[in-house]
Amino acid sequence: MPLVAGNWKMHKTAAEAVRFINELRQRPLPPDVEVAVCPPFTALTEAARALAGSSIRLGAQDMHWEAQGAFTGEISPTMLLAAGCHYVILGHSERRQLFGETDAAVARKIRAAFAHGLIPMLCVGERLDEREAGRTDQIVTDQTEAAVAELSAEQIRRLVIAYEPVWAIGTGRSATADEANRVIGVIRRGLERFRDASVHTRILYGGSVTPENAAEFFGQAEIDGALVGGASLDAAKFMAIVKAASKDVT
Ligand code: PGA
Repeated sequence: MPLVAGNWKMHKTAAEAVRFINELRQRPLPPDVEVAVCPPFTALTEAARALAGSSIRLGAQDMHWEAQGAFTGEISPTMLLAAGCHYVILGHSERRQLFGETDAAVARKIRAAFAHGLIPMLCVGERLDEREAGRTDQIVTDQTEAAVAELSAEQIRRLVIAYEPVWAIGTGRSATADEANRVIGVIRRGLERFRDASVHTRILYGGSVTPENAAEFFGQAEIDGALVGGASLDAAKFMAIVKAASKDVT
């Protein structure tokens, strides 16, 4: 089943999150698309309450790898689970670029997420200079391999990966559907070398996905959904993207 996840980034208070979720819940969800929202930490508990009884999943945007300890400002996997999270976005390019997150730290977080029963959404993607230097395939393969190297085949199957070219995030300049499909194919083949698990691993596209361009991405053979930033902050736009992922025309 395709997955459409909203990455709210540093947007929405708890009250705004509840309002948004209530608005979302008034609209019928297609039965053949999994939907997730990833609010900031401070809105998770209220969001979980607002989502009670709905099939919409809750995710967080980052976490520390330890279950507890002296890590001022950090949030642990057990805290996310207790708050009602199913997913956690890890290795988003904003974490890598603005907060110095390394491949090694991302790999540790991925393992911790699985160890505590969360499903990680691993983000990978090349910067513009890397794309222009012809290094896209190498970058996404390296980032993926670093994150999955110590996972079991079963974990790789449950992992969600989001291919998000850094130059396409929040810029209004998405990758073409063809190119996104090609790079996701490269990521999938890379996984195959590891554990023969790639066929089942859901790989999403992210980077300036909108109601206007979503269907084109979802029509590609390798693309299993979308991680949506800006357009996920508006319930009508987010729902339009969710509907575009559905094969159900009724
Ligand atoms: P965007 O962000 O849709 O605003 O480009 C995507 C993301 O960063 O996950």
